[in-house]
Parts: sequence; structure tokens; C-alpha cells
Amino acid sequence: MTRIFSGIKPTGHLTLGNYLGAMRRWVEVDQHGADALFSVVDLHALTVEHDPARVRRLTRQSATLLLAAGLDPELCTLFVQSHVHEHTRLSYLLECTATDGELRRMIQYKEKGARAQSAGQGVRLSLLTYPVLMAADILAYRTDEVPVGDDQTQHVELTRDLAVRFNQRHGHTFTVPRATHPPVAARVMDLQDPTSKMGKSHEPGAGIVYLLDEADLVRKKIMRAVTDSGTDVVYDRAERPGLANLLEILAACTGADPAVLAGEYRSYGDLKRDAAEAVVELLAPIRKRHAEIAADHGYVDAVLRAGAERATALARPLVDDAYRAIGLLPAG
Ligand code: TYM
Repeated sequence: MTRIFSGIKPTGHLTLGNYLGAMRRWVEVDQHGADALFSVVDLHALTVEHDPARVRRLTRQSATLLLAAGLDPELCTLFVQSHVHEHTRLSYLLECTATDGELRRMIQYKEKGARAQSAGQGVRLSLLTYPVLMAADILAYRTDEVPVGDDQTQHVELTRDLAVRFNQRHGHTFTVPRATHPPVAARVMDLQDPTSKMGKSHEPGAGIVYLLDEADLVRKKIMRAVTDSGTDVVYDRAERPGLANLLEILAACTGADPAVLAGEYRSYGDLKRDAAEAVVELLAPIRKRHAEIAADHGYVDAVLRAGAERATALARPLVDDAYRAIGLLPAG
């Protein structure tokens, strides 16, 4: 059976980008017919300035939202990364496999490092080593497929390189995974700055639709989305990024093709209105279910406890194998 792993980091409230780029397929496709594991990857939230209480709160909220969006603990395994020690155990072995040069080339390291520096904050060493921990998240489970948005492609490529290198040096240990992406909306852009990704940590969020935003706020954000000064509706990501983003959002919500949709609109206003209503409709049941599940802390904690137990049982033998393969003496 195909093994699937993916994760989401609790650095901010989850966004429409997270949902359309990743979560929706986890719910609708990946948890059915594959052995799928999903993790709130909290250790990754410590790679940039953080507030401990907020990370704790967002970790539970992210897990609750994943359940509200439709992950079913009877069908998949949902857990918090720091509850399963195998991730950090394996990460060190992969640090001994990766090179300094390949990590410094990672786009997210360059972007987030520059942002931290310009805010006068030091760049944490963990921001550099973060993709190695992500590789460990994936490789610990003999993962075949990693369903992610576009922005994670480079990290999954690195994961593949590390798996191949480790296997060549130390004997076959890891499955070499591949990234999978949704057909549309693999990169939802910020509504106020359609040349940059809609990212949950880019606050304040006038250009970001959060999954828990009230319907009227969603409408307001989409109606105020930045578009260009043209009047005709065409789908052109390079020349008309704001318009293309709205077309992709609407297409993803309704299962249509963005280029075909473009032909159906004469005005930006109509497109915005339809996109806003489609998103409101998409998010309404998630918000409702979130409120119900959030009222029952015991349920979420029980799901996460069972998930961590299963994940540990899957990962431990493989990580033990990797420790032996790399030359470490097993504890007697
Ligand atoms: P994160 O938490 O930034 O995002 C979670 C998932 O949402 C996708 N995504 C988007 N897709 C389309 N448009 C957007 N604007 C958008 N913003 C986010 C991301 O591509 C991702 O699939 N490094 C990862 C977390 C991670 C992980 C892993 C993922 C850690 N270990 C192992 C897969 C496997 C991250 O920062 O995702």
C-alpha cells in the first residue's frame, strides 16, 4: 500500500493556501486508499522567533482544524511531531549526510534568513538545518508520496537526494519519496501582493484568507484583492498575477479550469464576487465543525496520543536500522 506523509507547521493560523495546496487533497484523496500519516510539525515552528504559548495553542488549533476539515482518525494517522522522538533521532544522521552547501542553497532559508536579519533578529541555526528535519519526517516512514504545495518542491528534492546518498553509502535503508501537487492552486498568492505566496506567518493578513475568518471578512478580503488596471478577464500567471490568482482560487473551489473560467467573465467585479462566495461556501462547514471539535479538548488529545503511538511504532524499527547502517553500535 502506498505510504503518504505530509505536515503543516504551527507558525500561524492556517490559510486558504494551506487548504487548497495541501489539506484538501489529504482529506479527499490521500487518506482513502493509502496508508497516510499527517503531522503538525511543531519543532519546525521553533526555527524563527516564537512565542511558546502561541506555538502550543496553534499546535492544538492546527490539529483541530485538520480534523474539522475532514481528516478521519479511523482512516489516517494524525500526530504532533515532537511526540515522536524518531524524527529528531533520524535528523542527526541526515545532518551527517547533507552538506552545508546544499542547505545554504535552499530558497526558504535565504528568504526567511533575510527577513529575520532585517528585523534585527539572529538567524537560528535550526532555520538552516530545517530541511534536514523535514527529510527525517518523511524518510522515517518509508514514504512513497508527499502531497504538498509548490513551495515545498525543493525540500522534497533534497529529501530524495539524501535518501539516495545514504542508501549508496550505507546500504538500502530508505524509500525514495516523490512530491505530489494539486492540479490547480498549488501556489495560492497573497491577495494584496499577488507576486508572493499567501503565507500564514506574513502578518498582518489583509491579503490572507484564514480558514477561521468570518464569512464577511472573507468577502471583504477577496473583494479588495489587488488586480491590474486592465478590464478583460484572461488567465495569464506571468502578466496578470492578481487575476490569475482569483481565477485559480475559484477554479479550485468549483473544480473548474482557470483558463476556461476566464472566458466566462466580463468584469473583475463579477469574478471577485463569485470567488468570494465560493470560498465562503467552502469554509463554512470547516468553521462550524472546528467549533464543535474545539469544545472537546479530550477528543483531540486522544486522537493525537493514538496517532503518536502508531507513528512511533512505524518509525522506530526503520530508524534503528539507519543507526546500525551508519555504523553506530546498538545498545546491548
Ligand atoms: P507549511 O506549514 O508552510 O504549509 C503546509 C502545506 O501547505 C502548503 N501551502 C500552500 N499551498 C499552496 N499555496 C500556498 N500559498 C501555500 N502555503 C502553504 C505547503 O506547500 C504545505 O504542503 N516545510 C513544510 C512542513 C513540513 C512538511 C514535512 C511537509 C515539515 N515536514 C514533511 C511535508 C512533509 C511547511 O513549511 O509547510
